Amino acid sequence: MIQVAVLGYGTVGSGVVEVIRTNQEGIVRELSEEIRIKYVLDLRDFPGSDIEDILVHDYEMIVRDPEVDIVVETMGGLHPAYEFTKQALEAGKSVCTSNKELVAECGADLLSIAAEHQVNYLYEASVGGGIPIIRPLNYALTAEIIEEVTGILNGTTNYILTRMKNEGKEFQEVLRDAQELGYAERNPEADVEGYDACRKIAILSSLAFCRQVDYKDIYTEGITKITAADIKYAGALGRSIKLLATGRRDGDGIFAMVAPFMIDSENPLYMVNDVYNGILVKSNMLGDTMYYGRGAGKLPTASAVVADVIDAARHKGSTAKFLWDKRKLEVKDFGLCRNRFFVRMEGTKEEVLAAAGTYFGEVTPVESQEAGEYAFMTAEMKEEDFAEAAKKAGRIISRIRVK
Ligand code: HSE
Repeated sequence: MIQVAVLGYGTVGSGVVEVIRTNQEGIVRELSEEIRIKYVLDLRDFPGSDIEDILVHDYEMIVRDPEVDIVVETMGGLHPAYEFTKQALEAGKSVCTSNKELVAECGADLLSIAAEHQVNYLYEASVGGGIPIIRPLNYALTAEIIEEVTGILNGTTNYILTRMKNEGKEFQEVLRDAQELGYAERNPEADVEGYDACRKIAILSSLAFCRQVDYKDIYTEGITKITAADIKYAGALGRSIKLLATGRRDGDGIFAMVAPFMIDSENPLYMVNDVYNGILVKSNMLGDTMYYGRGAGKLPTASAVVADVIDAARHKGSTAKFLWDKRKLEVKDFGLCRNRFFVRMEGTKEEVLAAAGTYFGEVTPVESQEAGEYAFMTAEMKEEDFAEAAKKAGRIISRIRVK
């Protein structure tokens, strides 16, 4: 029998308990042995619940119990999740997690501690919820040189942008609705400012490019400035606005960023709507592969955690190799990254196109959707050149990158 302790009985932790109990029969078939949840750790009490008899408040009970084989860390945050994870690995227990903050910050470190102790640190659920993406990058695509990973990695913002598009509403109105419906947190900052997607692309880039990518080096812009008018322009151009997180190989470094982009219907990520996530991987022999599904939520995320638990149980006594070197990979100066831009500017058509020609070079005019302004698309240009031109031109209402 494999004995498991679950740290944190929140949304994902309670989902893990539910998945293990509901699918026990299938799990036994996979492993030829049962998985038993021996402990659930939480600061709270859950009187009358079906985990009451296994609920503990003291982590020492878990880490000192030699019968516990696998620790599931679904607490979130850096502390005490880091200390608990490290102690578990050092005590010879594998750890499976959905904690993207911790994986992004300390993943390489925890993987090497796991290897030193012949156990596993597995984190499939930290990116893309229930979508298999860590395993494909680490196993199925190992014959490939990965050129780019670009994803819609945040369900909350994708839900908001989809509703803004379908209903023509402003960001704040849809956000309020999403909060009432439970699709957005009461404090939505991590999602709407792009911080969550930034952690996730740091993890995917570290794996795809085999070296540590520091999330603090990634240029990050959220969706709070996107307006109903921007969405209207995107629609008129046959495009959608999506919050994309991307890591792209460039010589001996990478360009990495999180920002809203206008994408057209040829882009495979165009059809990723509502709370769904999608990840597009470009590699040198295989070409494009796309991973799509539920990127958040109790049972989808818990399912990925439990798959890791089964994997850890299957590989007891050996450590899965992750191609994630501790050495830092240089994220190149964002100013040198090349993008195309859609720009809305105050003025008449003639004024705007004259200014565009002076400051941005050759542009493609875009039919105005609002009074008192005109719009255009630039050719591909360096971020620093665009910023300089925008400063000189002035009167810019909004600008969105175009893919
Ligand atoms: N807040 C995250 C999202 C949850 O909306 O995608 C999953 O990491």
